[in-house]
Amino acid sequence: MYKRIMAVLIGIACAFGVYLISSGLPEKKDAVAEGGKFEVPERAVDAPASEQLYQSLCISCHGDQLQGAMGPELAHVGGKLTKEQLFKKISTGGRGMPAFQERLTEEEIITLTTWLASKQ
Ligand code: HEC
Repeated sequence: MYKRIMAVLIGIACAFGVYLISSGLPEKKDAVAEGGKFEVPERAVDAPASEQLYQSLCISCHGDQLQGAMGPELAHVGGKLTKEQLFKKISTGGRGMPAFQERLTEEEIITLTTWLASKQ
């Protein structure tokens, strides 16, 4: 009886260990979704690429001058949110803002983040 309980306990411990190892290295996207720590890498502002992405994906809700429409104004958002907060908002959206992490590459989100962070 005692042996059987031990065997069950060891089995549970092993399953838990495998779970911990397999979930131990989260991707950046997971870290963003779960509110974990991550840093947006340094990039030079690429205004032409950013404006192109903005015009095709964001303009309808945030306005042609970043003045806001159905979504809030973004003309000074760089003074309000950190790059990490911007990256997270664009990636996961929420409260009327669509999530773009499946539609844009991580590099494209970094491009938009860096550009918006410069709008102080
Ligand atoms: C369907 C409309 C819609 C589209 C398209 C949209 N947004 Fe938004 N966005 C919103 C709404 C609504 C909010 C406010 C969400 C909230 O209060 O949390 C928001 C919030 C934000 C914020 C946070 C602003 C703040 O002051 O807290 C950022 C940054 C942002 N959007 C960037 C973008 C970017 C970049 C794109 C294009 C890739 C985009 N949005 C596309 C509706 C939209």
